[in-house]
Amino acid sequence: MVTVIECSADRLAFGTQIGSLSTSMPTVQVPLGNRSYEIQVGTRLIATLGERCRRLKIGTRCAVITDSNVGKHYGEAAIKSLKVAGFTPTLITVDAGESSKNLSTVQKCYDQLAAHRIERKSFLVALGGGVVGDLAGFVAATYLRGIAFVQVPTTLLSQVDSSVGGKVGVNLKAGKNLVGAFHQPRLVLCDLDTLTTLPDRELRSGIAEIVKYGVIYDATLFQRLEKQLDGLLEKQPPILSAIIARCCAIKAEIVSQDETETGMRAALNFGHTIGHAIENSSGYGKFLHGEAISIGQVAAAHLSARRTGLPTADVQRIQALFERLGLPTSIKLPGDKRDKLFSAMRLDKKVSAGEIHFVLAEGIGKAVWGQRVPDAEVNWALDQVKG
Ligand code: NAD
Ligand code: GLY
Repeated sequence: MVTVIECSADRLAFGTQIGSLSTSMPTVQVPLGNRSYEIQVGTRLIATLGERCRRLKIGTRCAVITDSNVGKHYGEAAIKSLKVAGFTPTLITVDAGESSKNLSTVQKCYDQLAAHRIERKSFLVALGGGVVGDLAGFVAATYLRGIAFVQVPTTLLSQVDSSVGGKVGVNLKAGKNLVGAFHQPRLVLCDLDTLTTLPDRELRSGIAEIVKYGVIYDATLFQRLEKQLDGLLEKQPPILSAIIARCCAIKAEIVSQDETETGMRAALNFGHTIGHAIENSSGYGKFLHGEAISIGQVAAAHLSARRTGLPTADVQRIQALFERLGLPTSIKLPGDKRDKLFSAMRLDKKVSAGEIHFVLAEGIGKAVWGQRVPDAEVNWALDQVKG
């Protein structure tokens, strides 16, 4: 099936509710019936974690899952906030990095939850980037057949994308995110203060997902990125909070219409067919997720020009934005590497009846998905990004 999303910039304001606690603290609603939740974007939010969890009435015992980098900076503040609000939290720390996103780490988390007597009416807090969010969310989805969890994303990538929408899971050797669930968080707190310690390479990688929202959904966001990229890289708070809130609102709108990806949610995978395969075939960790999908998006843009009429000038705009970000737009692909990449693509969840499916763009801000692309053309697209 081929479907198109086309959205003008102002659809957001009508399509989702964005309240405002203050100008610097937007709130985005994810409307999913009795599983609806709020995304708060602002500063000094970790200090309010405990009180906000208390208001959710999701139990008394809880565990914070974090990683070895994030825990050093924010573990104590999160635990303190929970204790002050009357909770009995425990801190579970996993090794930082994509290589922790696997079933063996999940097993270790289960054991620690059992040791801390986490019950049905207990909850988890995912304090970290997308790796911790996906992992802790999967643990929450499966421990005792599912307990509540709260996302406190600490990378730009997780604030604009992975903490929202309930996709949780881990990798197998065979491929990215091959084991997982849909399990929505009860609350998302995007604390901008955490970005002060985020390494520059991670910040740039996160912006790759923001570019994606511009390409698939919002031409005005794309233009804004072109204009405000320097301010975003300097982490200027008004630019950061407006852009993060906008991305969350786009994701909230898409997820509220297609929670389990039977249709339009697939558009969020623009650049990911090749991107996930790059991450997998090069060994997790060599390319950051945002780096892999920037190459993937450039390849998908070339394919879009060939198959769905994306103007060549827009392909150049997309590539130029990634170049300004210092993100990779090409990859060395000797024969054996290309074979490995193809094998990884065939194991991706986006394969159906053995055929590789792509999300393509008809213009900036307008995506089509479920596009079957013959191997010869996938090869052609890889030639366009060959380093
Ligand atoms: P990450 O979680 O590995 O974090 C990147 C690095 O930054 C890690 O070393 C981490 O320890 C460190 N870090 C995190 N926050 C920090 C902070 N505030 N200060 C200092 N260091 C900090 O990577 P990521 O880019 O956040 O997430 C990538 C993962 O997200 C991938 O596994 C990807 O598949 C997943 N993802 C999931 C979804 C989804 O919808 N569930 C969407 C996009 C990506
Ligand atoms: N990042 C892809 C999704 O949430 O659907």
